[in-house]
Amino acid sequence: MPAALDLHHRPLRNLRLSVTDRCNLRCGYCMPEERYEWLQRADLLTFEESSALVAELIPHGVEKVRLTGGEPLLRRDIDQLVRSLRAHAGLRELALTTNGLRLPEHAKELRGAGLDRLTVSLDTLRADRFKELTRRDELAGALRGLDAAASAGFTGTKLNVVVMRGTNDDELLDMLDFARERALEVRFIEYMDVGGATRWDMSRVVPATEIIELIGAARGGATPEDLERTAAPADRYRTADGQRFGVIASTTRPFCGSCDRARLTADGQFITCLYARRGTPIAKVLRARGSRAAAEQIVDLWTGRSDRGAEERAGLTTREALAQPGELQQEPHLEMHTRGG
Ligand code: GTP
Ligand code: 5AD
Ligand code: SF4
Repeated sequence: MPAALDLHHRPLRNLRLSVTDRCNLRCGYCMPEERYEWLQRADLLTFEESSALVAELIPHGVEKVRLTGGEPLLRRDIDQLVRSLRAHAGLRELALTTNGLRLPEHAKELRGAGLDRLTVSLDTLRADRFKELTRRDELAGALRGLDAAASAGFTGTKLNVVVMRGTNDDELLDMLDFARERALEVRFIEYMDVGGATRWDMSRVVPATEIIELIGAARGGATPEDLERTAAPADRYRTADGQRFGVIASTTRPFCGSCDRARLTADGQFITCLYARRGTPIAKVLRARGSRAAAEQIVDLWTGRSDRGAEERAGLTTREALAQPGELQQEPHLEMHTRGG
C-alpha cells in the first residue's frame, strides 16, 4: 500500500507519540507558568491501544516513531511500550526525546527493549544557568543521563539545544566541544513561538544564519552537508575541523514543504501541525471500533491536511506568541509539552 499523501503530496511517515504531558523540568520556553491543567490519567491511551494503532498505521506509510512528552520517561514502564512497538515489522526507526534526568535508571532497559536512538534536550552546560532555565537544580543529573545512555550502548545520540538570545547564545562553541567529546550530534534549534512559549519574542530568536556564521568564524568555516532537502527538520553542516552539527530553523526558515510528521497526544488527540489550533480526538473511535477504524480516521485526516503553520507564522508582519496563558489553560492540547515538540 503506498503511503498516505496529504493535499501538498506530503507522505505520512513519521509519528510522534507523546506518552505524557508531565515533566520534571520547567523550561522557560515550554512551561513558564506556575500552574498547569493536566490531562486526566484515566484518559491516557494504554500501551496496548497505542501499539495496536501504530501497527495499523505502518501499512499507510508510518515508518518512524518518536516517543516524546512532556518527559516520556515519567510514564511508568515505558520500556514495555518500546518492546511492543519494536515488535512491529516495518517500523524502520524507534527513537525517544528526553531531558535525560531519568536515563540513569532507564537507559539499559530501554536499550534492551529495542529502542534505536535517543535525543537529549540540554540547553546549557552551566549549573547556575540550568537552574535558572529549567527551575530545577539538575544539570548533574542530565549529565549522568548522557553517561548512562553511552554506557547502555546508545550511539548516534543527538543533543537538542534551543538557542535564546541573551540566555545561552554564548555557549554555542562550548556545546560543540562538549558534543565532540561525547560523540553526540548537536542541533541548535531556533526558539519557536509555539503554544507554551508564552514569553516568546522575535528579539530573543537567534537566526540559524547567525548560528552558522558564528560557528564558521570560530572553526575555519562551516559547509552544508546534505545536498538535498530531507524531511528532517535539521540542516546539517560540517566545520573545517570535521565536526558535524545541525541547525533547526523552524522560525526563520520553515520546512513545512517537506513535513512528514504527525502527532498523537497521550490522551489520543491527533494533531498534524505543531502550530495547529486544534486536534481531533480519536480515542473514542479507537475504543468503540478498534485500531483499524482509528487508523482509517487518521489517514482521512492526513489526506485532508493542507496546513503549513510555521510558514504562515513566518509570513506575519507582527509576530507574538501563538497562545496566551488563559487560552492554554482552556485548551492544554495547544501546549508543546502536550503535543510533543
Ligand atoms: P531526528 O532527525 O530523527 O532526530 O528527529 P527530529 O529532528 O524530528 O527530532 P526532535 O524531536 O529532536 O525535533 C527537533 C526539533 O525540531 C523540535 O524540538 C522542534 O523544535 C522542531 N520540530 C520538530 N517537528 C517539527 C515540526 O513539525 N514543525 C516545526 N516547525 N518544527 C518541528
Ligand atoms: N522552541 C523551540 N524548541 C522547543 N522545544 C520545546 N519548546 C520549544 C520552543 N518554544 C523543544 C525542546 C526539545 C523538544 C522536544 O522540543 O527543547 O528538544
Ligand atoms: Fe520538559 Fe521538555 Fe518542556 Fe523542558 S522542553 S519543560 S524538558 S517538556
